[in-house]
Parts: sequence; structure tokens; C-alpha cells
Amino acid sequence: MEKLLGDGVKKVFLTGGAGFIGSHVVDMLIPQGYEVTVYDNLSNGRREFIEHHLGTPGFRFAEADILDEDRVAAEMQGHDLVWHLAANTDIIGGVEQPRRDLRDCVMGTFNVLAAMRRTGIVPVIFSSTGAVYGDLCREVARSESDGPLLAMSTYAAGKIGSEAFVSAFCNLYGLRGWMFRFGNVIGARMTHGVIFDFINRLRKDPSELLIRGDGTQEKNYFLVEECIDGMAYSYRHIPMTEDKPCDVFNLGTGSVSRVVDIAAIVKEEMELPDARIRIEGTRRAWPGDQPKVHITVDRMTGLGWSTRRTSDQAVRIAVRRMLGKE
Ligand SMILES: NC(=O)c1ccc[n+]([C@@H]2O[C@H](COP(=O)([O-])OP(=O)(O)OC[C@H]3O[C@@H](n4cnc5c(N)ncnc54)[C@H](O)[C@@H]3O)[C@@H](O)[C@H]2O)c1
Repeated sequence: MEKLLGDGVKKVFLTGGAGFIGSHVVDMLIPQGYEVTVYDNLSNGRREFIEHHLGTPGFRFAEADILDEDRVAAEMQGHDLVWHLAANTDIIGGVEQPRRDLRDCVMGTFNVLAAMRRTGIVPVIFSSTGAVYGDLCREVARSESDGPLLAMSTYAAGKIGSEAFVSAFCNLYGLRGWMFRFGNVIGARMTHGVIFDFINRLRKDPSELLIRGDGTQEKNYFLVEECIDGMAYSYRHIPMTEDKPCDVFNLGTGSVSRVVDIAAIVKEEMELPDARIRIEGTRRAWPGDQPKVHITVDRMTGLGWSTRRTSDQAVRIAVRRMLGKE
């Protein structure tokens, strides 16, 4: 089997590596013989997600902040590739604390890129989001070339700003960037999102499940290992050049799941057939929410990569994993 990042890379610097997606990246890279430094301030990540690697040769954990540019550069020295996942992922919290997305996402990404420039590291994989499409993707599935990108949350604004800095650094300073606008990534160890919320609500009150919004929300869900595989596939197969030093790819499945269907799957897997579903609210579940997110994944499909699972299949698997059933 081809190694995730090929043979040209040996040492990976992984920001946000103690988080949901990042800890799965570690689980996939370490068995393949890569050396991995996780750089994470544990603001949302958890030590327990990575502690099974502590003591493993080739694994290092730096508990530190990407806002500390000198520390990032010092820890980054000697790596072959930067996989930048660290960001504020509390989208709702951004409404009350909009500076967090400016700081942790835009400034943090700037610092990571500046540290790459200082240390001479060239390739960066960056996790953006389908949220950059804002209301554009409400009814029509949007492709990478669609715009204008008008953010509806500070989270999306932070990602649009970060994409712009990745692109600028690639053009000005010889970096090479692979950027990905994800659908909703799901699996074990989720710490946020609709599946996480539904399970917790039903654990608190097994008689009723509250759905915030008007129940018509639908988004694209795909499994965390497929997300990581998609990023790595693109890195291996799409070379960046002086002419085109960075690019952006939508990443997810071609299908969507409706929130009411997710609720039904959670009820079924938790074996709570009598739980009543209560739908409460308006079209937007919270300020900045995108009730419908449709992105096209034709570009990745054209390049030879697609998910193996549909959105609904992925939801069921993720629910089962969160419940410890698989
Ligand atoms: N999960 C999804 O559905 C999804 C969808 C689109 C994009 N993304 C992006 O993928 C990336 C990973 O997301 P995730 O779901 O694993 O979220 P997560 O919150 O579990 O992971 C983010 C990690 O970054 C760390 N972090 C945050 N600010 C930091 C800082 N200033 N310095 C150092 N570390 C910091 C957190 O402690 C956390 O471990 C994020 O950039 C997120 O925006 C995720």
C-alpha cells in the first residue's frame, strides 16, 4: 500500500494534532513510520487523544500556542512538511468572541507560515471549510471556482483570511500549499457537531431529542479517515509548481444528510425508539449558522479520489463509534 505522504516526507509538523482530526492523522502516520510532532495548546484538543503515542519513537508533543511565533519556528525546525489544522473550531462561540477567529485562525496561520519561511519548510496542507461559501451553497452545490466568498460567521472569515495568507506566502516566498474546504468531518473522538450534541442530549434526557432550527438542515458528512486520506491523496498526486504554487479543493462526499435523518439514526443506535423529536427554532439554528451546505466534489473525483461511504452511511458509522459500538 502506498504510504500516506509518500516516501519524500519523513518528519511531519502537525498543528492541532491533539484535536479530533489531528489525533487521527497521528494514528495513521505513526504506524507508517513517519516522525510526527504534534503542536497543540490543548484549548480544544485532549491529551488522552494522543497519549497512547507518548513514548513511541518518532512521536513528540509540544504543548504550545501557534500565537507564539518563536516557539512555533523553534519546534518546526527540521521537519519536511507542515500539516496545519489548529484553529478555533467553536463556531457558535465565535459570535460572542469574534476576536478568537482572528487570533487563532488568521494570526495563527500567519505565524505558522512565517515560521515555515524562517525554517525553510516548503509544503503546507491546510484545513479550510465549506463554510467559506456562505449563503452561496444554500441551494446550489458550489465548486472551488465559485464566489464571491462572503462569510456568514467569524469562523468562515478566519478561514477565508487564512486561505489568502497561504496563497500569498506560496506566491511570495516559495511555499507550496494544498488547501481543503471540508464538508462535515465525523468519527470517534468528536468534541462538537450535531452527532456529538444529539448523543449528549439523549444521554441527559432519553425521552426527548431537541433539534435546533427548522429541521430542514442538510449537510455533507464524511468520515475522518476518508478526510485525511483525501488530503494526503491530493498532496501525493497534485504537484504544486512555481506557476501554480497552491490550490484549493472541496473535500467530502457527493451526498448530504438531513438533520432529521441524523436524529433518527442516533435514536435507533441508542435504542431509544420512544424518544420524541422536538423541532424548535427558525431556519438558522444560531447566528452565523449555514442550514444547508452543498459543495461539489467533482474536482477530487476527476483527480481519481472519492469517499467510499455516502453521507448517511458515514453518519451511522460515526454514531456507532461515538457509542463505542465499533
Ligand atoms: N471537524 C469538521 O467537521 C471540520 C470541518 C471543516 C474544517 N475543519 C477544520 O479542520 C481542523 C481540525 O478540526 P477538528 O474538527 O479536529 O477540531 P478540533 O477543535 O478538535 O481541533 C483543533 C485543534 O487545534 C488546537 N488549537 C486551537 N487553537 C490553537 C492555538 N492557538 N495553538 C495551538 N493549538 C490550537 C485545539 O486545541 C485542537 O486540538 C480545523 O482547522 C477546523 O477548522 C473541521
